[in-house]
Amino acid sequence: MVSDAEIYARIGEDGFARLVAAFYAQVPPDDILGPMYPADDLAGAELRLRDFLVGRFGGPPRYEESRGHPRLRMRHHPYKLDQGARDRWVQLMDRALDQAALPGDVTLFLREFFHGTATFLINSRA
Ligand code: HEM
Repeated sequence: MVSDAEIYARIGEDGFARLVAAFYAQVPPDDILGPMYPADDLAGAELRLRDFLVGRFGGPPRYEESRGHPRLRMRHHPYKLDQGARDRWVQLMDRALDQAALPGDVTLFLREFFHGTATFLINSRA
C-alpha cells in the first residue's frame, strides 16, 4: 500500500512537474475548462496545483507558505463546478496520469485521490 507521505519520495519534483504540465497542456483548448482558467496566468495556475500536490504528498510545504491553508472548496467557489466540469477535469487528469507514466501503484493512488477530491468540490447542480 502506498501512503500519502511517501509519494513525493517516490516520484519527486519531476514526477509532479510532468503530471501537472500534462494536465495544463490540455486546458486551453478545452471547451469547458479552458474559459475557467486565467489565460494570462496559466503558468501561475500550474505552479499552484504543483506546489499544492507536492506539499500534500510529503514534499516541501511551498503551497501553504505562499497561499496559506488550501481551503479548496472555498477557493473553487468562484467557479461553477457541476458534474460535467468535474468529469472533464477528471478526464484530463486521467489522461495526464497516463502520459506521466508514474509507477503503477502511485498512479492508482493519485487517480483515486483526484476522483474523490473532484467530487467533493462539486458546488453546483446544473
Ligand atoms: C473538479 C473540477 C475542478 C475544476 C473545474 C477546477 C478549476 C480550478 C480553477 C479554474 C482554478 C483557478 C486557477 C488558478 O488561478 O489557480 C483552480 C485552482 C486550484 N485548484 Fe482546482 N479545479 C477542479 C478540481 C481540483 C482538484 C481535484 C484539486 C486538487 C486535487 C484542485 C486543486 C486546485 C488548487 C490547489 C488550486 C489553486 C488554488 C489557489 O491557491 O488559489 N482543483 N481550480
